[in-house]
Amino acid sequence: MPQETAKILYNAVVKNGYYKIGLTCDPAYENANAGQFVTLKITDRMEPLLRRPFSIHKLIKTEDVVTGLEILYRVVGGFTAQLSERKENETVDLLGPLGHGFSVPTNLARPVLVAGGIGVAPIVFLSERLGESGVSLSNVPVFLGGRSKSDILCKEDFSRQGLFMAISTDDGSYGKKGLVTELLETWLEDHTPDMIYACGPHGLLHAVAEIAKKNQIPCEVSIETLMACGLGVCMGCAVKTEDYSEGYRHICKDGPVFDASVLKF
Ligand SMILES: Cc1cc2nc3c(=O)[nH]c(=O)nc-3n(C[C@H](O)[C@H](O)[C@H](O)COP(=O)(O)OP(=O)(O)OC[C@H]3O[C@@H](n4cnc5c(N)ncnc54)[C@H](O)[C@@H]3O)c2cc1C
Ligand code: FES
Repeated sequence: MPQETAKILYNAVVKNGYYKIGLTCDPAYENANAGQFVTLKITDRMEPLLRRPFSIHKLIKTEDVVTGLEILYRVVGGFTAQLSERKENETVDLLGPLGHGFSVPTNLARPVLVAGGIGVAPIVFLSERLGESGVSLSNVPVFLGGRSKSDILCKEDFSRQGLFMAISTDDGSYGKKGLVTELLETWLEDHTPDMIYACGPHGLLHAVAEIAKKNQIPCEVSIETLMACGLGVCMGCAVKTEDYSEGYRHICKDGPVFDASVLKF
């Protein structure tokens, strides 16, 4: 996995508190899986000391060759605030691609995507990869949930890719008022997908995993957690699982994407 000094191609506000940053990267990212992540460090700053993980949101291509990647991020604390102030042509230290992403089985026909808030970041890359693998995206629904209208992101991307969108917000300021899992459950009364993919807050992933189990649908979820090393060294990102004798696995090394049925939420 290459560690490199990446040049900032752009760093722009998407909407309140959300930004997208384009970075140059090694062409080897061509083989990255959706759900894999990178870690960043701001080159000329000591603080914060630890690298921060971010999902690959998109690959940037020039004449069919990968020359960069895009990260969609939300400003929540010190690192993301510093990142939002970085300008075009400045640099950050980029390490990746890391972890295990979503599987895209060859015989997949009817997947469904679920994203909560900033959890949409890897889901855009996933729908791109699903399309490349031959899945007809016009048959794929994406369920987008957020606290409020300003937390609903990437509608233009899904619309361009041809997916059907179902949207809910907690406060009813956009789409249906309520939880996105309620929309999913209603849709499942008339449809039988062959995979549910989800990324978002812990509570959402737990609820989606329960729905998948009840309906006997395979399900993969991407977990976001606090990470220290991001490389499987510090043991700081353990998650309880059913399938390992030790009873846990590491999100940074074994995940962040897991088969939902092995997780103990
Ligand atoms: C695999 C992975 C992929 C990620 N992808 C993205 C992405 O694509 N876009 C994006 O905006 N963020 C993503 N994150 C979260 C991102 O890493 C954190 O938001 C970032 O590290 C916060 O750094 P900070 O210094 O700005 O905030 P901090 O000062 O470290 O934290 C500010 C607040 O946010 C909370 N927080 C920090 N990290 C997380 C987290 N992972 N989950 C829940 N709460 C957290 C802290 O507890 C604290 O309350 C991802 C995390 C992981 C593990
Ligand atoms: S973050 Fe260090 S082991 Fe996962």
